Amino acid sequence: MYPEIKSTNKLNPNISVAILATKKSNWKQWNFAPEEVVYLEKQIKADKKFIVVNQFKRLVFVQLMEEFAHMESYRKIEGLRESGNKICVQINAHKYNAIQILSEEPLKEEILAMAEGCALSNYQFLKYKTGKKDGHSLEKVELLSSRIAKSDLTQLNIVVDAVYKARDLVNEPQSYLNAVRFAEEIKRLGKNTGLKVDVLNKKQLESLKMGGILAVNKGSRIPPTFTLMEWKPKGHKNKKPLVLVGKGVVYDTGGLSLKPTPNSMDTMKCDMAGGALVALTLYAVAKANLPYHVVALIPATDNRPGGDAYTPGDVVTMFDKQTVEVLNTDAEGRMLLGDALAYAKKYKPELVLDFATLTGAAAAAIGPYGIVCMGTADEKIKSKLRISGFNTYERLVEFPFWDEYAKLIKSDIADMKNIGGPVGGAITAGKFLEKFTDYPWMHFDIAGPAFVSKDDSYRGKNGTGYGVRLMFDFIKNQCK
Ligand code: BES
Ligand code: ZN
Ligand code: ZN
Repeated sequence: MYPEIKSTNKLNPNISVAILATKKSNWKQWNFAPEEVVYLEKQIKADKKFIVVNQFKRLVFVQLMEEFAHMESYRKIEGLRESGNKICVQINAHKYNAIQILSEEPLKEEILAMAEGCALSNYQFLKYKTGKKDGHSLEKVELLSSRIAKSDLTQLNIVVDAVYKARDLVNEPQSYLNAVRFAEEIKRLGKNTGLKVDVLNKKQLESLKMGGILAVNKGSRIPPTFTLMEWKPKGHKNKKPLVLVGKGVVYDTGGLSLKPTPNSMDTMKCDMAGGALVALTLYAVAKANLPYHVVALIPATDNRPGGDAYTPGDVVTMFDKQTVEVLNTDAEGRMLLGDALAYAKKYKPELVLDFATLTGAAAAAIGPYGIVCMGTADEKIKSKLRISGFNTYERLVEFPFWDEYAKLIKSDIADMKNIGGPVGGAITAGKFLEKFTDYPWMHFDIAGPAFVSKDDSYRGKNGTGYGVRLMFDFIKNQCK
């Protein structure tokens, strides 16, 4: 469970505390024990900016704001999330169960950021551990600040919970989370939230002639699913819906074009991270009761070389009747997404955003440090998305989207082929998707940050839940 973030108006000298202060702070105001003050002052003299005092039956953390003096505001906020991570690690190492956070100046965003970093760092995936589970001890994060409103806390708790749930889904192996279970789990998320969730089964996909999804599913013994979620609250601010599309490949072996690089398959349970991202975004938006009409579409299947698996050389007729020459069965994500993006037209959307662990090329280009994006939305939308990227530190970098790249997916015998050449792999994938859109649209390739193999501050290790915070921030701002 995520630790609950609450507000309090009482400083409790018996539990651990984190203080946002400056070198010149008067330590007496917080009733520190004399030993604590002595140690603290020594550390300040030694020019430490993040100080941990461990003198009594608690920890005292002091974050000197001088550390961020020359940083841009969004970078400072990120620094405070990172401090929240350090606090969480220490609190758990000492088996304490609570932390209070306060500041000398009346700060709000800064305290919330530290709390967010701390709470997100407490995540564990223990479902498959038997015996002693070594669960984290931290249960409560209490904030002492008159500036923080109840709604700030409610939203922060909702977002942290949603990120935890997205991580859980990504961390589930395909032995549990096949396409049918994935849809069931999303259905379960929708309960008691006011979300409408419908799942199309294989028969329905066949009658809709969703050729892309069905082709990828041919090697599987488990049927595909297509999950539709809708949040349409009374008084929603947008006339036409925002549609989010998420890649739901529950496992990607590469299919008959089996993944060529040793061990590159090991983490491919993460290939539904885009689907988890959009599902948990709708969950959070509904829980927070944001007045915005949002739809999510999540096509799901595994991709494997079974008896009747689709093959290189196949020509597939997609949902919108365009034809695709398959030249690599490992480029399966775009097959699913092509169908889903074409399906999105029926909503007459104001904007469509798709999220996918789509290409190794995107991951190779920028690593886990942000999201590669491209698309046809106007500058105003792009700028709002970029701002949400900075607000949440789930940063966006826009790739060129020139016509030349579209030429690289021309096929000799069909309307397009499903791979490009040796250059611009993330972009040719985007150009493929563009062919299925006729509305303002952006594509987000999250192959880099969705799943990480070593600890990365408050994002943790393995499934990161990346993108949920970005999308919540964007939709929240769209409501203003
Ligand atoms: N799921 C992979 C992309 C991926 C790579 C996700 C690394 C996360 C981490 C995708 O389906 C894929 O296999 N893409 C191929 C496309 C190629 C065959 C055109 C790739 O990037 O190699
Ligand atoms: Zn693949
Ligand atoms: Zn894939």
